[in-house]
Amino acid sequence: MNKGHHKTDNRSLGSKIALRRWLLDKMGITDDVRVLDTCAGAGLVWSAMEEHCTIKRWTRTDIKPRKDAKLTLRMEAAVAIRSLPIHEFNVVDIDPYGEPFDAYRALLLRIRKPTAVFLTHGQQSLRVLSSISHSTLEAIGLPTAWVGPIRGMTGMLDYVKDLCLSQTWSYADVKHAGMIYHRTGGCDVHYYGFALEPYPEPVTPISPLTQKRSVTV
Ligand SMILES: C[S@@+](CC[C@H](N)C(=O)[O-])C[C@H]1O[C@@H](n2cnc3c(N)ncnc32)[C@H](O)[C@@H]1O
Repeated sequence: MNKGHHKTDNRSLGSKIALRRWLLDKMGITDDVRVLDTCAGAGLVWSAMEEHCTIKRWTRTDIKPRKDAKLTLRMEAAVAIRSLPIHEFNVVDIDPYGEPFDAYRALLLRIRKPTAVFLTHGQQSLRVLSSISHSTLEAIGLPTAWVGPIRGMTGMLDYVKDLCLSQTWSYADVKHAGMIYHRTGGCDVHYYGFALEPYPEPVTPISPLTQKRSVTV
């Protein structure tokens, strides 16, 4: 979630709103939305959503300090998900410029109730592996030293992304899923919306997400 991507807030605001409206409607939770907005920025998405649903709680965090400091806690998304009372929210929004997978892994480990999850994944169309964070590489068992030599291996980024997303099924059933794709200014952006219903217990194998490999010999 941390490597240089576009620095323009909400160039695809319309798509984000459409995806959120669609999923909340599918889940039937438009009259009781409690959102943890982990990359809140200027809060444009959920300000606009106020016209379409009843937001009973809106907790905003962002890695960068904001002028509206009273409204937005300065906190990295994965840290917010690990430390805030996640069971009090029915929507978790992870909308950074780059990759959301550190925060998404943290969320999968914590959700216990049906939750609408929104992820934004932006990657340079050149598709160098360096746009994946070290922690994500480590979590899926790829050496971080590969970042340089793997430049240009175009399939690798998609493989990493698919691996990160497929970890969902170790923790939750996906009741509804939507995706919107944009290509703008040398960047591929995918917007995902998932209605997750967590299993009572994670399904094994839970590696490589947690790196607790259950090995039978
Ligand atoms: C596309 S903007 C988000 C726009 C926002 N969702 C809105 O409704 O206006 C991306 C925001 O994510 C924040 N961000 C990027 N990486 C982050 C991280 N790891 N944790 C928390 N916030 C992050 C940036 O500071 C920026 O404000």
